[in-house]
Amino acid sequence: MTLSATILAIGLAATTVLAVKPEGNRATRENGRVIYERSCLFCHGAEGKGDGPAGWFIGRYEAPRPRDFTSEGFKLRSTESGSLPTDQDLFRTVTRGIPGYMPSFAGLTDTERWQVIAYVKSFNPAFQTETPVPLLLGGPAPLASPTSIETGRALYVRFECHTCHGKDGRGDGPVSEAGDLKDASGLRIVATDLTRPLSFKNGSSPQDLVRTLMTGLDGTPMPSYAVQLTGKEDEAWYLAQYLLSLSSGPFP
Ligand code: HEC
Ligand code: HEC
Repeated sequence: MTLSATILAIGLAATTVLAVKPEGNRATRENGRVIYERSCLFCHGAEGKGDGPAGWFIGRYEAPRPRDFTSEGFKLRSTESGSLPTDQDLFRTVTRGIPGYMPSFAGLTDTERWQVIAYVKSFNPAFQTETPVPLLLGGPAPLASPTSIETGRALYVRFECHTCHGKDGRGDGPVSEAGDLKDASGLRIVATDLTRPLSFKNGSSPQDLVRTLMTGLDGTPMPSYAVQLTGKEDEAWYLAQYLLSLSSGPFP
């Protein structure tokens, strides 16, 4: 590329980014506050503590409660367990919503979604000091075949997923059935029925499933398998392919 072409490309990239994602400054957060108070406060509370009026019934007896942004971690991340989510992770959550618990906000413009995200991040000072780094998520996907799905099934058994999710993935493993699973706030939580991909909080494309397996859902008993799967990218994909074979997925 010539120098002028490079400058043009950088210029274009900068304008595209600015048009979509506004600077995280005071004006952005202030716009975000207005959207938050209209669209999020009812569940997440005026101060982001997860104690909005809807908290009275959502999560009263069973997980999940609306997230307390001031003190709790995040489930839906591309980053290592225990880390903050990236901006893109938050954007995905707000855009898609959380099936069964939080509506999709795809009806807001991209700019409005970035504004409300900037406001949500202001509830937790760690966002100012930490730079969340996405984990590398497992190379290109190999094609699914009866053999890869069978390998995935063997991994499902080897990693003891069935103890929580059940032999056939219906969420009826002995640990879950016993009612022993709790989330970080001590509320009872059940293992997901893996035959119903449309209910997955973190998405149900093969890429989404590999991300869930690598990162875990923090604050819940669903562990991260990054240690077992790093360097064994194919195994992560086979496991995802097996999970999708339990329904007629994938549903991107
Ligand atoms: C109807 C109630 C409701 C509304 C309205 C709502 N949320 Fe949520 N939100 C929830 C619940 C419940 C959870 C926790 C789900 C879980 O832990 O499985 C959650 C979780 C989240 C999370 C954390 C996801 C993670 O990775 O753990 C973010 C971020 C979030 N909401 C942002 C927003 C924003 C921004 C808005 C407004 C634009 C909003 N929510 C509106 C109920 C709501
Ligand atoms: C100790 C119990 C436990 C084990 C072991 C476990 N899970 Fe989970 N898993 C859970 C719970 C609980 C949830 C639900 C979390 C929630 O709803 O917030 C979950 C959620 C999931 C989800 C749905 C995520 C979403 O987007 O909603 C998938 C997929 C999944 N587990 C796959 C697996 C696989 C594959 C294994 C083995 C490699 C495994 N789990 C091992 C407890 C477990």
